[in-house]
Amino acid sequence: MSSTPHVPVLGREAVAYLAPREGGVYVDTTFGAGGYSRAILDVPGTRLIAIDRDRTAIAGGAELVKSSAGRLTLVEDRFSHLADVCASLGVETIDGVVMDVGVSSMQLDQAGRGFSFRLDGPLDMRMGQTGPTAADVVARASESDLADIIYLFGEERHSRRIARAIVADRQETPFTTTRALADLVGRVVRSKPGDIHPATRTFQALRIFVNEELEELQTALAAAERVLKPGGRLVVVSFHSLEDRIVKNFLGERSKTGGGSRHLPEVAQIAPSFQLLTRRPVVAGEDEVAQNPRARSAKLRAAERTSAPAHATDGASSWPKLSDVMRGG
Ligand SMILES: C[S@@+](CC[C@H](N)C(=O)[O-])C[C@H]1O[C@@H](n2cnc3c(N)ncnc32)[C@H](O)[C@@H]1O
Repeated sequence: MSSTPHVPVLGREAVAYLAPREGGVYVDTTFGAGGYSRAILDVPGTRLIAIDRDRTAIAGGAELVKSSAGRLTLVEDRFSHLADVCASLGVETIDGVVMDVGVSSMQLDQAGRGFSFRLDGPLDMRMGQTGPTAADVVARASESDLADIIYLFGEERHSRRIARAIVADRQETPFTTTRALADLVGRVVRSKPGDIHPATRTFQALRIFVNEELEELQTALAAAERVLKPGGRLVVVSFHSLEDRIVKNFLGERSKTGGGSRHLPEVAQIAPSFQLLTRRPVVAGEDEVAQNPRARSAKLRAAERTSAPAHATDGASSWPKLSDVMRGG
């Protein structure tokens, strides 16, 4: 199958909320095929730092770096390291951060990356080039960890049955290909004509887990809060409810006014660090969905940084951790 070029979802809206202007410094945390980055660079006099953990995405941006006359710096890293990336480039505060989270269609369409149950390839699913693959997780995780991962990150109600079948089968033959895993899920989960492919949720779960996508998002939002200037903009486009919930809760909590209790002294009230620009998420219009079905589930949320200090970061999440699961802990 030939790979389709990446069409940036909600690109116009994302850049409109970011509102780049001459002299401003921006971070595109998910460079991908550079659609958002190009639109930011189209505004004369902008300076852009663009991050992607995928080496092939960074390599694909080489021409754009050359033609940007020093305005674009591309960095291969995780976006949770956003603040460190800026600091290493001598940038202390920025005017805007844009995030278009999830996988790109370039990644999905390449059988060799192992993201798609429709294409046979190695069971990899890593956006970056380091860390355990989905095959490693499927080979090593305990049955209960597998069930939790598939349930929490895939919202799959047959998670226990799938985990049990994986553990029973992997003793005979390790799962090394996308096809082998998709076939197993297809055998265990019945589906009716017109349903989504039965492996959709299991693949989503493994992909989120292998790339630590939810931790990445949560850490990056807090990092953006620390590096944005007062008046700086944060724009996030997400593709499924687990991600959108994180963005919604983060912005809801950070923009809450009159927090604390009236029985507590004034100091207990934490000033909002963001003001919402979108009360409800912005979604793609019918035309965009007709041209690009991936846009159907996209949600955009945006907010503007206030001058209040960044809030303390929330405690550790209760999600299963990649390092613990691989250690057998
Ligand atoms: C949906 S695509 C972005 C497309 C981009 N907006 C465009 O216009 O071409 C998401 C990209 O973000 C990258 N990505 C996802 N999570 C990441 C993370 N935690 N750190 C760095 N890059 C990440 C992926 O490798 C992928 O290339």
